[in-house]
Amino acid sequence: MTARIIDGNAIAAQVRHEVATGVTALLAAGVDRPGLAVVLVGDDPASHVYVANKVRQTEAVGMRSFRHDLPAAVSERDLLDLIARLNADDAVHGILVQFPLPAHIDTRRVVAAIDPDKDVDGFNPLNVGRVASGIMDVLTPCTPLGVMRLIRSVHDDIAGLGALVVGASNVVGRPMARLLLEAQCTVSIAHVRTTDLAARCRQADILVVATGVPGLIRGADIKPGATVIDVGITRTEQPSGKSRLVGDVRFEEAVEVAGAITPVPGGVGPMTIACLLANTLSAARAAAAMAMERRVHEDVPDATLPGRARADVSGGRSSTTTISI
Ligand code: GUN
Repeated sequence: MTARIIDGNAIAAQVRHEVATGVTALLAAGVDRPGLAVVLVGDDPASHVYVANKVRQTEAVGMRSFRHDLPAAVSERDLLDLIARLNADDAVHGILVQFPLPAHIDTRRVVAAIDPDKDVDGFNPLNVGRVASGIMDVLTPCTPLGVMRLIRSVHDDIAGLGALVVGASNVVGRPMARLLLEAQCTVSIAHVRTTDLAARCRQADILVVATGVPGLIRGADIKPGATVIDVGITRTEQPSGKSRLVGDVRFEEAVEVAGAITPVPGGVGPMTIACLLANTLSAARAAAAMAMERRVHEDVPDATLPGRARADVSGGRSSTTTISI
């Protein structure tokens, strides 16, 4: 049996289309254009590529993009001051500080400084805690959100299925496990130190691998017919001298055993920015709903509220169902 290939490029394009449609609907409702601020510190070449992609895709779905490039030697104080200004700026609905940050800056302090309502990465401890306590209408880390969408392209209902997440990072593994649990899977978390990793993998109906260890999972480690999501992406040198992007799963072996599998590249990768845009739309909708509620409470005469906005932007963040991840 050869597995179905899950086309992350096509599904990400669908998400971006849904976001663009959502932006158009907000503008038609008289609401401000959603805006995403991206902060880049230093000269890391990979980060520059990621940020350029984020800016391009943000503008392509009709949102405003605010890019802030800071020198590698910027002080933590100056970075926190910029975040405070972005928190206070009504034109900015989402804030992303690109990682990694230089060693002299405390990443956790930076993450905690971002307004939870603008935390489109979903890394602020308040949002992490909300997701952990099963509150789902919050800003959720983009890669796990994208993975859920990929899984749902294969399965209508995953309740009761056994899911194994390999990798326990705060960015992917842990929030991934929480989302799968929320979808009523029976969830386990493993990692590179798990002693019987292959045996555990062979029991999983859904296997999500996010370790950054190229080729860790072999075809023989996969339950026949399982859905395999490979989050890993590592650039490796080939004997020919050329480099190649590879995942944590040995694709050529796994594709012969799995029921469905993501390729690397072209699987999970494109979903992350698409979900960042979905989160920004979500934050903009929630901000519009809150602004309207404030105006209603302040008893502003109805005529000052845009009529369509009253009708269309009422549900806050829980009205993100158009993105249905
Ligand atoms: N660097 C690599 N991936 C990410 C991400 O998802 N968010 C942020 N903020 N930085 C990153």
